[in-house]
Amino acid sequence: MERARAVIPNGMYGHESVALLPEGYPQFFSRAEGARLWDVDGNEYLDYMCAFGPNLFGYGHAEIDTAAAAQRARGDTMTGPGEAMVAFAEAMVAQVSHADWAMFCKNGTDATSMAVATARAHTGRGKILVGRGTYHGASGWAIQRASRGLMPEDKAHVIHFRYNDVESLADAVKMAGDDLAGIMITPFRHEVFQDQFLPDPAFLQFARESCDRAGALLIVDDVRAGFRLDRDCSIEAYGVSPDLSCWGKAIANGQPVSALLGVEKARQAAGSIVATGSFWFSAVPMAAGVATMRAIRETDYLERTIARGTALREGLQQQAAAHGFTLRQTGPAQMPQILFEEDPDFRFGYAWVTEALDRGVYLSPYHNMFICSALTEADVRLTLERTDDAFAALKARRSSVQPVEKIQPLVEAIRAANR
Ligand SMILES: Cc1ncc(COP(=O)(O)O)c(C=O)c1O
Repeated sequence: MERARAVIPNGMYGHESVALLPEGYPQFFSRAEGARLWDVDGNEYLDYMCAFGPNLFGYGHAEIDTAAAAQRARGDTMTGPGEAMVAFAEAMVAQVSHADWAMFCKNGTDATSMAVATARAHTGRGKILVGRGTYHGASGWAIQRASRGLMPEDKAHVIHFRYNDVESLADAVKMAGDDLAGIMITPFRHEVFQDQFLPDPAFLQFARESCDRAGALLIVDDVRAGFRLDRDCSIEAYGVSPDLSCWGKAIANGQPVSALLGVEKARQAAGSIVATGSFWFSAVPMAAGVATMRAIRETDYLERTIARGTALREGLQQQAAAHGFTLRQTGPAQMPQILFEEDPDFRFGYAWVTEALDRGVYLSPYHNMFICSALTEADVRLTLERTDDAFAALKARRSSVQPVEKIQPLVEAIRAANR
């Protein structure tokens, strides 16, 4: 960290910065394999963050990495894309039922920003509706947390609604009037420092109908949840189909590539926007993406992650109760959010994950976590042995655990935005 602070502002930035985590969380890592990672001091952890989502099949997955290595031997960033780009587009269009075409980019923010531009190009209108407090990326239009360097104009054409609240969405649609270009929704509510919750089918249906009535586009931001809830776009299970969907994180099991998928009627608009980047068409991530799509089609990865997540959830619930704590475990079991009941300043959550970290289990006290399919039943048992000790240690120092001062301004801002 000392070396980093000399040459990187604050030593680190962004979502992988440990600034909001408890003291002692490692910032730099030397190695990752399967469901485990090692920090630069050589400490080993069972990793429940999975690189904040990209690790779906396990770090260093044999088939996916072999496909990437074979492509790397032939060429990666070249004067034009490889055949792998077409193969990846074919695989994604075949996998995602609403998709008639695919465009690739690098990060989730690229995909959501391209979706916004495509909706505007398709409709010739400006207003985009997004959930209040919902994270859609680190671009000016999307950032909702206090951040310096932004201008009000960056969000001049973004209108916020309350997630799952039909009335609030109806108000936002009304406010957009005849300038509604699109509505962007995440497939479930998965924001930091909060309980997660699934969408109300009536809310999804209302979003779909509002877009249809206005000729606007319904956009699903599946960057975080994509292929973790379903082998299709995450809201298809609710009988609702979007016009555009945004993908990233897990689609190439950690190789850098993201995607915008869309229906036929949006193809022309998507083809009319400026969308490019020096590394967007590199062939290695595309080859990894093709192999990842094969693993999604052909393996029981989804059922495995759900089973492991459920076993973890049930074990933790029993342990917490046995030690006199109550957990609020929300969201899908394979993307767990774990908060403590009666812990408004997060002191118990922070202290417990610190005890778990000291015992080799890497958890988050404020962000939803991720289960990868490389996590075994034995790994879950080992995790539970360690978390049981962590609960016991927390119980022993329950009365002296201190509130977490550094997160309070952010927590207060989030609470205010949710009111
Ligand atoms: C729902 C959602 N959308 C968009 C993004 C932005 O993706 P990226 O960080 O790859 O730009 C994220 C990242 O966490 C996300 O969770």
